Amino acid sequence: MKKIRIGTNVFLPMPVVLVGTEIAGRPNFLTVGWVSRVNTDPPMIAIGINRANATPDGIQENKTFSVNLPTAEMVTETDYCGLVSGRDTDKSGIFDLFRGVLTGAPMIQNCPLTMECRLTETIELPTNLLFIGEIVAGYVNTGMESGGKPDMKAINPLLLTMPDNSYWTLGEYAGKAWAEGKRLKNKN
Ligand SMILES: Cc1cc2nc3c(=O)[nH]c(=O)nc-3n(C[C@H](O)[C@H](O)[C@H](O)COP(=O)(O)O)c2cc1C
Repeated sequence: MKKIRIGTNVFLPMPVVLVGTEIAGRPNFLTVGWVSRVNTDPPMIAIGINRANATPDGIQENKTFSVNLPTAEMVTETDYCGLVSGRDTDKSGIFDLFRGVLTGAPMIQNCPLTMECRLTETIELPTNLLFIGEIVAGYVNTGMESGGKPDMKAINPLLLTMPDNSYWTLGEYAGKAWAEGKRLKNKN
């Protein structure tokens, strides 16, 4: 198979989340594609945030943040939070909010899956700050879960591809994880 070199600005498909903070007491949300679970126990999640954004001020002030998974129906509000900065625009009134056990980590009512996180580590990268947080509590909307586990088909999350900068929804079911490989495993 022939390959072409495409340079180094390369990305993997990613989920889109809204990260919530409170900056000088005002709730603020930014759109984030660079997010991943990074530890099993305790459950930890990492977000890569550009230093120029207002959000690092809130995370560093409170040592907390929230991660909110929007639905595809929330694409306009989600994109808006990635276009304007809390430095010059008040984003506190866009969503109905609720709070859990942490201060400084407001969560979005309309997001069917949310989590509140306590900052455990900040890694300074050249342009971004990698914030690692322990998930202190997670919340899912009733009707969007099955046996207490988030039902992603019902949630209908947004996915992002770069550098074509496009939003997508989940595609077809492709198989059960930690199970499909058993066909090969059992052969060997
Ligand atoms: C789809 C999308 C994904 C984004 N992903 C990130 C990201 O992972 N990290 C980041 O720092 N900024 C990301 N941004 C840009 C910020 O959301 C944007 O700069 C925002 O206005 C910053 O808000 P704030 O200044 O209130 O923190 C993304 C924007 C969009 C539209």
